[in-house]
Amino acid sequence: MAHLPTPLEEMPRLSAELGGPRILVKREDMTGLAYGGNKARHYEFEMPHIRDEGYDTVINIMDYHSNNARMTAAAANKTGLRYILVLKNAAHRKIQGNLLVDKLLGAELHLLDEFQSETADDYAANLKEELEKEGAKPYLVQEHLFPRIVGMVGFVDAGLELLEQIEALGLQNVHIFGVAGRSLCGLILVARNLGLDWKFTGVQVTFDPPLGEYIFDHDSDIRELLDLPATFTQDDMTVHSQYVGEGYGIMTPEVAEAIHMAARTDAIICDPNYTGTVMAALIDQVREGNVGKDETVVFLHTGGLPAVFTFAEQLADYSEPQ
Ligand SMILES: Cc1ncc(COP(=O)(O)O)c(C=O)c1O
Repeated sequence: MAHLPTPLEEMPRLSAELGGPRILVKREDMTGLAYGGNKARHYEFEMPHIRDEGYDTVINIMDYHSNNARMTAAAANKTGLRYILVLKNAAHRKIQGNLLVDKLLGAELHLLDEFQSETADDYAANLKEELEKEGAKPYLVQEHLFPRIVGMVGFVDAGLELLEQIEALGLQNVHIFGVAGRSLCGLILVARNLGLDWKFTGVQVTFDPPLGEYIFDHDSDIRELLDLPATFTQDDMTVHSQYVGEGYGIMTPEVAEAIHMAARTDAIICDPNYTGTVMAALIDQVREGNVGKDETVVFLHTGGLPAVFTFAEQLADYSEPQ
């Protein structure tokens, strides 16, 4: 599924502009699979699992601008599985960004309005029942545990790959910035089990679900699945929640600034929902003097590129602070 290894690339011009530490970016946005992103690593495990269990159809419930929705469509196509996408808050939306790519990929779209979205789970369960009556074997993603933790499994691989790259460059005092999520936890698993001194800063982009439920409460599931001596705790990650702004999907002026700055300096395009927020946090933390000059920052770019086009007007209207 994924083009690997993904590059570890220097961002010298951003670093110089900030007068800050050395900054590199781990390019998980370059995995391929319909514009790339962290989920390509998930499907290396998830799609064979679904197919080998004898399922022939994937049903997924996501929000209209979801990266997961898009990348699952791509992975289902490559695996030869039928893909039914129940999209929340999607009726009457402009068909562009991730939604356009879903369409190009031939996802069978059920575009729910705000009212219908409240009962999206029931809607999808009904679809599943109908398909079963017709003799199909549908896999409703949200009913299973594996898709919720596979992101950590996929990023154990990413962590091992990153370790090789870090060692080849002889980097010291590694400080990884990423979305407070499963990908970062996968890297933490590698660091803890190999006794590495990497530091982790996780940036929250939403409060729903709470972080405990989303990642930390799954440490025993991961322990069971991977049979590792060490997993992760909340203490392994410094979490910043102050960059969420008005809420998930509402771009703050700081995120717009960060997107422009990373693009203008080292030609790295971040997205408005996830990686742009992490970039805004990184820039702010460096400006505030909270990242030492002796540290080597690795910015984990987890993808999300099509969302840039969903925010075209706001991003195009942006002007540099004087
Ligand atoms: C671009 C992007 N980055 C990061 C994440 C967070 O994913 P995870 O919790 O698997 O790290 C997502 C999740 O949807 C995403 O789309």
